[in-house]
Amino acid sequence: MIAVAKPAGAEGGLQGIKTIEELNIHAKRVFIRLDLNVPMKKGEITDDTRIRGALPTIQYALKEKAKIILASHLGRPKGDTPEDRAKYSLAPVGQRLSELLNLDVLLFEDPNGEGIKGMVSGLSEKQILLLENTRFAPGEEKNSMEMATHLASFTEVYIDDAFGAIHRAHATVSALPSLIKERGIGFLIQKEVTWLDKLLNVKEKPFLTLLGGAKVSDKIGVIENLMEKVDSFVIGGAMAYTFLAAQGISVGKSLVEKDKIHLAQDLLKRFKNRDKKLILPVDHIVATEFKANTPTQATPTAAIPDGMMALDIGPKTTNLIEEEISKAKIIFWNGPMGAFEIPPFEKGTFKVATALANSKATTVVGGGDSVTAVESAGVASKISHISTGGGASLEYLEGRSLPGLEVLRQNDFRVDLKMPEPSENDIQ
Ligand code: 3PG
Repeated sequence: MIAVAKPAGAEGGLQGIKTIEELNIHAKRVFIRLDLNVPMKKGEITDDTRIRGALPTIQYALKEKAKIILASHLGRPKGDTPEDRAKYSLAPVGQRLSELLNLDVLLFEDPNGEGIKGMVSGLSEKQILLLENTRFAPGEEKNSMEMATHLASFTEVYIDDAFGAIHRAHATVSALPSLIKERGIGFLIQKEVTWLDKLLNVKEKPFLTLLGGAKVSDKIGVIENLMEKVDSFVIGGAMAYTFLAAQGISVGKSLVEKDKIHLAQDLLKRFKNRDKKLILPVDHIVATEFKANTPTQATPTAAIPDGMMALDIGPKTTNLIEEEISKAKIIFWNGPMGAFEIPPFEKGTFKVATALANSKATTVVGGGDSVTAVESAGVASKISHISTGGGASLEYLEGRSLPGLEVLRQNDFRVDLKMPEPSENDIQ
């Protein structure tokens, strides 16, 4: 079992939140909210990291002989149409869970109907109930109290282990736990928050943060909140071209957020005033179009010729970043260095992933694309911590209060719903 200490004196963090081990879940009806939102291609799961990440909590609940009710969203269905049901069903996830746990996982299609109560109380020790995609119910994203009240009617203990969804004020993340007195977190959230708190309360120096991806606006909150703690920043990916444009360097036809140039100029001043090291690309891999296996060239300087677009960092930039990585003691990486999903523009991102894996530093990688990059580069096992939450890890590092954590921290709860045991007649 993973034993994770609560960070002493950390602001926010896990203070005031009970862990699954601090609650009595023995033989209770335990509702476990997970993030089983895994990538799928043609109905097949392409990466089961999030499913594996949920196993320690499920296994603990099994050991405690709990009646286990699992819930998760998958994708972003627009509603509850037959097409959405086919595309976003949790059936393949249930199948995978069943293989990994070697027991029956029963997918329940209508968790918002009354039949669920009998189903829950009739669960045997070798069965787990998986509720169908929470987002099929219109109440989920509206944080509906009506939906939550129904789910609370058969829940004795609520456990949140859906780190990737902790920033969503949705019914199964926020409204439901507000109704349940016995509530807390599972092992995955414990582990994730403890790692991210390590970055926010950093002791090791130098602390290097690498940010990439398309948009400056997505990363501004993290830059601001980490500014004082980080010793050097690397900015790559398309967001770097907005910073180059902000310095008056020509960017050709590269992706630039024109309305964020002033913001980039302001950030450049802030880095300078605080004496923070900032590495921006000094050369690029450019092409005339964004197409697989299109002819490319490396630019001699940071300037991008007219008619060309930059799609990856160049070799000089890669060397600079590798050198910076070799000096760091702790590193956070979010966002690819180029359009790594299309060859030949994956090289810079893969080299950064490999340098991270080979460094002696503590390394934390968060965000869907950079996680895919470390997986595709085959170095995932050498990273200290890979976060299962993209948006969630960024919002946590921005210092924002996250609905799914805040509700668990509150000492009061809204209603003490003392539900009667479902009667024998309810049992199907
Ligand atoms: C994620 O993949 O980041 C989480 O599962 C949250 O999904 P969402 O962005 O659709 O809410």
